[in-house]
Amino acid sequence: MKEREFQVEVQYFNRKLTEVIEQKMRGCSNKILYDALNYIMDTGGKRLRPIICLLSAEVVGGSRDKALSAAIAIELLHNASLVHDDIIDENSIRRKNPSNPARYGEKRAIVIGDFLFGLSCEMLARCEVPEVVGLISSAVSNVAMGQYLEFTLRMRNLQEVTEGSYLEVAALKTASTFVASTEAGAMLGGGNEVEIENLCNYGKNLGIAFQIQDDILDICGDPAKTGKPMGLDIKNGERTILVIHALNHSRPSEKEYISGVLSKKRDISGSDIDRIREIFLHSGSINYAIRLSNDFIRRAKSCIEGLEDSGAKEKLKDIADFAAERIEKQVLADFL
Ligand code: IPE
Ligand code: IPE
Ligand code: MG
Ligand code: MG
Repeated sequence: MKEREFQVEVQYFNRKLTEVIEQKMRGCSNKILYDALNYIMDTGGKRLRPIICLLSAEVVGGSRDKALSAAIAIELLHNASLVHDDIIDENSIRRKNPSNPARYGEKRAIVIGDFLFGLSCEMLARCEVPEVVGLISSAVSNVAMGQYLEFTLRMRNLQEVTEGSYLEVAALKTASTFVASTEAGAMLGGGNEVEIENLCNYGKNLGIAFQIQDDILDICGDPAKTGKPMGLDIKNGERTILVIHALNHSRPSEKEYISGVLSKKRDISGSDIDRIREIFLHSGSINYAIRLSNDFIRRAKSCIEGLEDSGAKEKLKDIADFAAERIEKQVLADFL
């Protein structure tokens, strides 16, 4: 699938999402909640989850229409979780725009997130298969568990945080919405047990790869392309894959520097971020994370190799490749 074909998928999904949102807007008298609905449409978003949901229905021989409500429910719950995530992370810019908490304040953003979760539930209620309602609901609690586990890692001694615990967080907070997308799509498309399992594994590996890429882009990405601020993970003392690798592969003085910066939190300057990036680069941490992410992408693609050949299968493989390519496309030229 060429980039252009992917955009066709995005446009198709956006048309369907717009119908749902516009209907809700007509019944919404509150200006801020109305704006919050508009925000989802105006600021975009890659729409990866709903598109892999629709393709998962098609790849098992079903029709994408059957998976549409589930796809919309997942995109809405993803948006809701981002609103709450921007409160947690004190993030002021998302999708090249002021984030919801930056626009309306934290208290209102909590309500906006809940409003979007509610709308997601309304869409979920339109799914005819009870197992799908259950698995998408579980994704919401898995995201919450992942976010919570991340808090606990932020509190823990840096040396105690392992790659295993990082991957556990990524699987919960990020991959669970990808898994819900593929599993729901495959079930609604009438897939058999093996097909559903293979697609779940595709979603899990792709989701983990995606989080690793997000960590790389936080420190090396061009904010004009990522649409998010640079270095926020470091400012928040996040135990990213880069931090974990660098702590095991840099010089003692550099380890001390990283630990100092991460525990200092709010006073972190632009030059701290630059210095940390340099350490990540010469400790091989960035290259390691790229390799690790590519490994997960490879695994994702191999999970669906056994599915019957079709256009949808090729598109799912291409989406995994697109995800990998976003590193090259969004990293600032000097940093690789
Ligand atoms: C952002 O997800 C949060 C992470 C899981 C890293 P996306 O990068 O899919 O966000 P949008 O929807 O495209 O803005
Ligand atoms: C967000 O994770 C994942 C959610 C579950 C909402 P991050 O905090 O790492 O993602 P960004 O970088 O803000 O998009
Ligand atoms: Mg965040
Ligand atoms: Mg976060």
